[in-house]
Amino acid sequence: MSTPLVVGGAGVAGLAVALSAAPRPVLLVSRGRPGAASASALAQGGIAAALGEGDDPAQHAQDTMVAGAGHNDAARVDWLVSQAPAAVGWLEEQGVVFDRGDKGYRLGREGGHGRHRIVHARGDATGAAVVAALAACADAAAHVTWLDAHTLRALGLREGRIAGLRLADAAGIMHELPAADVVLATGGLGALFAATTNPRGADGFGLALALEARAAARDLEFIQFHPTALDVAGDGPRPLLTEALRGAGSVLRDERGGLLMAGRHPLGDLAPRDVVSREVLRHRRGGGSVWLDATVLGERLAADFPTAITTCRAHGIDPLREWIPVAPAAHFHMGGVAVDALGRSTLPGLHAVGEVACNGVHGANRLASNSLLEGVAFGRRLGAWLARNPSAPAGTASRWVTPGDEASPFDLRTLRALLDEALGPVRDGEALRRALARIAAMPGLSRAWQGRLALRLLHAALARRGSLGAHWREDACENASIHQRIATPAYGEIP
Ligand code: SIN
Repeated sequence: MSTPLVVGGAGVAGLAVALSAAPRPVLLVSRGRPGAASASALAQGGIAAALGEGDDPAQHAQDTMVAGAGHNDAARVDWLVSQAPAAVGWLEEQGVVFDRGDKGYRLGREGGHGRHRIVHARGDATGAAVVAALAACADAAAHVTWLDAHTLRALGLREGRIAGLRLADAAGIMHELPAADVVLATGGLGALFAATTNPRGADGFGLALALEARAAARDLEFIQFHPTALDVAGDGPRPLLTEALRGAGSVLRDERGGLLMAGRHPLGDLAPRDVVSREVLRHRRGGGSVWLDATVLGERLAADFPTAITTCRAHGIDPLREWIPVAPAAHFHMGGVAVDALGRSTLPGLHAVGEVACNGVHGANRLASNSLLEGVAFGRRLGAWLARNPSAPAGTASRWVTPGDEASPFDLRTLRALLDEALGPVRDGEALRRALARIAAMPGLSRAWQGRLALRLLHAALARRGSLGAHWREDACENASIHQRIATPAYGEIP
């Protein structure tokens, strides 16, 4: 008899795996319920799918590859974009109601897309709408047992495969379970940065655990910065101002009102995120400030961007009349646990999906609104496969793997400042080496799992001497310009 499938994480990817694994029993483990603590629930972009007139998956694939600087796995990209319309249909079957107009879906546009191709639900509250619908399905599903307020703490191994896991409950009491298949859907690591759009729980713990268990990792140096986080001071995640605002006609301005992206890239304000983030950072480092001007949207703001309006007003800004101060913030990790096309890691029985995984679809820089899509498409595929192909129970665990000590709050604050400086949208060898030396000189931090994970990221960034996608090395001698791309298609006029 097969053991239950254990899924760690209740964002979109984890929920898609859990629902698709029926009838195999699933233990869904999450810190919060219903997945509201996940980055998925905060996602304001939507789901990219070639559904519009004149669009097709080949164009979606081309934009994905260009944004990813050609570092993507082309076959997996083709599969992903071919699945996008079906992923939207599946979400509708689970109860998600996408925004429609007279002519069908209201398709938005975001950075790096040559066409309007993004479906939204409740405007810029798409992530929350999708997570709420999938969570309701998981609640109702007889095969899913949801252990909320639980955290994954350790993996049990026997003869080189997964044999069990340890979970801590809300009271901190540890529970040990046998397991032959564990899916990590624990999200990314933006919370290791001071300026991030990610929730505090997106701290890289799942990746650290997999690395400790000696699963292979891939592309760790590629970290995407979103160019338009609200520029607010203070410790904690920065509210995101969705790229769809620019897709609808908002523009980036400098402090004198000049158009920041004019003449910088053929797609202007809708250039891929790495390009826009570098430009915003470059301007700010030169002493300027950068503003998002959404005043042109008028009444559309309230109808299509309720989250943006609420966020701005909570910070005393009226986006109907005022420009919004913005700055880049760590947003998405393209790298992660190396997995095959199904989501299997190099450690038998350990699987990964969503942001914690790296299956190669995002290359060196993810295309906007491809992340919820990835979570749904690869999550469904992995769940269905694991339902049919359970690993045989491995017996009692002979070794337990944990990432180790937690960093102290002081060390964590120091680490976040170091990573902002060294692993931001613009990097150089000296800053990377300085950060490595600082961490090594702090015994508590270099022992803590957050410090050790940061060392892996920094070493990966140091090892890649050239610039590629989101990994931009100022000291790389071959950089032609800060906006270099390997292949920018001719898009023509941007409407
Ligand atoms: C956004 O809405 O700008 C973010 C969406 C995404 O991360 O793709």
